[in-house]
Formats: sequence, C-alpha cells, structure tokens
Amino acid sequence: MTVDLPDLVTMASFGRRIAKVLQAGDVVALTGGLGAGKTTLARAIIAALGHRGEVPSPTFTILETYDDLQQPVVHADFYRLERPEETVELGLDDYRSGAALIAEWPDRAGGFSHEPGCLSIALETVGDGRRAIVEPGADWLERMP
Ligand SMILES: Nc1ncnc2c1ncn2[C@@H]1O[C@H](COP(=O)(O)OP(=O)(O)OP(=O)(O)O)[C@@H](O)[C@H]1O
Ligand SMILES: [Mg+2]
Repeated sequence: MTVDLPDLVTMASFGRRIAKVLQAGDVVALTGGLGAGKTTLARAIIAALGHRGEVPSPTFTILETYDDLQQPVVHADFYRLERPEETVELGLDDYRSGAALIAEWPDRAGGFSHEPGCLSIALETVGDGRRAIVEPGADWLERMP
C-alpha cells in the first residue's frame, strides 16, 4: 500500500491513523534515508497518543520512553548501533514490555519485519513532500491505518 504525504498536515493525519490502532507489542519500523521524515512521523504518532510537549530525536539517547500515553511507546533511533546485539545491552526487550516500539533505522537493530506486529513504513522523498510504502505484518491486516 502506498500513502501520499505531500506536506506536514498529511503526515500528522497519517500519524493519527496509526495511533488509533496501535497496540502493545507492535513495531512501527520506519525506513528511509536522512531527512526522509522518520522522526516527523514518529512525533505525529506520539502526539496523537496524547503526548504534550517535546519529542526529542533519540539520535544520541537511542531510546526515549513515553509511559504516560493511551498506549505507552518506546521511540528508538538505532542509527548509531554498530551491531544488532547492542539492543540486548540496551535492555530493549524490557522497554518493549507493555509498549509499542517506533523504530527508526530498524535494520541496524536486526530488523523487525518478521514479527507479526510489525508495520513496515518506507518513506521516500517526492518533490517537496514524501510518500510511504506500507507493508503490514499479519497482525495489522485487519486494522490497516
Ligand atoms: N510529508 C512531508 N512533507 C514535507 N516535509 C516533510 C514531510 N515529512 C517531513 N518533512 C520535513 O523533512 C525534514 C526531515 O524530517 P525528519 O527529521 O523527520 O527526517 P528523518 O527521516 O528522521 O531524518 P534522520 O535520518 O536524519 O533522523 C524536516 O524538516 C521535516 O519537517
Ligand atoms: Mg530522525
């Protein structure tokens, strides 16, 4: 499925659609090069889940947690990982308990697309806007955003 995201307004509404159906155990895996819009979409989802205030990019912290939401979220940016095994040292599995994971650069963490709860979203630049190519895991087929 392809979703056109010509501007920040459509990005925000796409984030709301995902937030409405997001569940604990899910992964939203955001791929795309530098500046593709991964953090923008992550922020849109977190805001739609009720977060007020800043959503810092987890570029340096790798993980940021949002426990006070309708659906708790872990926002990750795995860009700086050198090996997927580093997720064990980070305690990722513990952070994921009861939470949904929004992952930028998921391949650096070994990838999540084998998980039935993974919604894979590849963002591409189209002119001034973006386009998303969405691949739902089995758990998402009945609740596509
Ligand atoms: N749908 C869109 N239309 C137009 N501009 C957008 C859209 N989505 C994001 N942008 C803009 O693109 C820029 C980069 O976005 P963002 O920081 O989310 O990218 P990123 O994929 O997280 O990059 P990085 O890999 O460097 O972390 C921002 O200035 C943002 O406002
Ligand atoms: Mg980013």
